[in-house]
Amino acid sequence: MKAIRIHSHGGPEVLQWEDVEIAPPGPGEARLRHTAIALNFSDINIRRGGFYQKDPLPMPLIPGNEAAGIVESVGPGVTAVKPGDRVGYVGVGAGFFARTAAYAEFRNVPAERLAHLPAGVSDLQAASVMLKGLTASNIVNKIYRPEKGDLVLIHAAASGVGLLLVQWCKHFGAEVIGTVGNADKAKIAREHGCDHAILYRETDFVGAVKKIAPGGVRAVLDGVGLDTFQKSMDCTAPFGVLVNYGNASGHVPPIDIMQLSLKGTLSMWRPGVSHFLGDPARFKALCAELFSLVENGVLKTVATRTYALRDARQAHVDAEAARHAGPVVLLP
Ligand SMILES: NC(=O)c1ccc[n+]([C@@H]2O[C@H](COP(=O)([O-])OP(=O)(O)OC[C@H]3O[C@@H](n4cnc5c(N)ncnc54)[C@H](OP(=O)(O)O)[C@@H]3O)[C@@H](O)[C@H]2O)c1
Repeated sequence: MKAIRIHSHGGPEVLQWEDVEIAPPGPGEARLRHTAIALNFSDINIRRGGFYQKDPLPMPLIPGNEAAGIVESVGPGVTAVKPGDRVGYVGVGAGFFARTAAYAEFRNVPAERLAHLPAGVSDLQAASVMLKGLTASNIVNKIYRPEKGDLVLIHAAASGVGLLLVQWCKHFGAEVIGTVGNADKAKIAREHGCDHAILYRETDFVGAVKKIAPGGVRAVLDGVGLDTFQKSMDCTAPFGVLVNYGNASGHVPPIDIMQLSLKGTLSMWRPGVSHFLGDPARFKALCAELFSLVENGVLKTVATRTYALRDARQAHVDAEAARHAGPVVLLP
């Protein structure tokens, strides 16, 4: 089969389109023919290296943690899926980054890690929404659920996760302030329900938020990290919640816990999706909730930007340059 592999960490140029052997599915595994493969920011972090990796990753390595596809065959002992089933997965083990290999035409996946796709969710939608939606789900189900009228600040509101957070927070009745990199992204964020869009590369977002919310926002949901997280404490209301779920601009440096008191008795979270999705039964239940929100139109999501899998290198170049809005999918 063909796959994208890296032989060492580095820039997008290390992504190579290669012939790769694949073994028959082992006990408990299903062989998938991928139909839609997600591009996630974590793929970039894995490619660059040094991201949550205590030990060096074995090379060569096929990146990618999330895809939709059709079951082609199953290994011994598999009853949960059968050939022809339409399924999706996000990570294949308890450690989300431990075993990548989605950037490939085929993959063997533990059958227990596969979620069936309902008729109302296309393969493209599934690959657009699973990881990004479950990241949003982790936040609104486990950390902070907006109440009607809450003011919420969402950084990079037009990103893959950002657009889903905007819609989910609006669904609970929040008023959403979003930061975005340019005017096109502002338009897209507004089309997804964002009430106020701030061009944070041109404007001091703290001042702009204070104008909309003089008393501060109830929560900040931040996948940008280094460039935004610390400053966000200055626009959070007393007893507010700060959630740093990603680091597109770099890791947030250590924060003196006294700042939480001085800035208004704030609470701070840094969720990771591995703990949320580690249990296969829970993963499937969370997918069912997510897919029903997609089918009911609460979460509108589908990649408008797709690349051929062989062009993954260009997709990474564009993602690193923040050229995308919403999810991006690679097509085998
Ligand atoms: N905690 C978890 O378990 C978990 C799970 C999934 C994803 N994540 C994280 O969530 C974040 C968003 O993921 P995503 O898939 O939605 O990403 P994405 O669609 O590629 O969006 C990332 C956005 O971040 C903004 N950005 C700011 N500084 C940037 C920089 N230096 N380089 C590139 N982009 C920059 C850009 O938006 P603007 O142009 O508007 O600034 C960009 O579009 C990532 O940090 C990802 O690692 C975390």
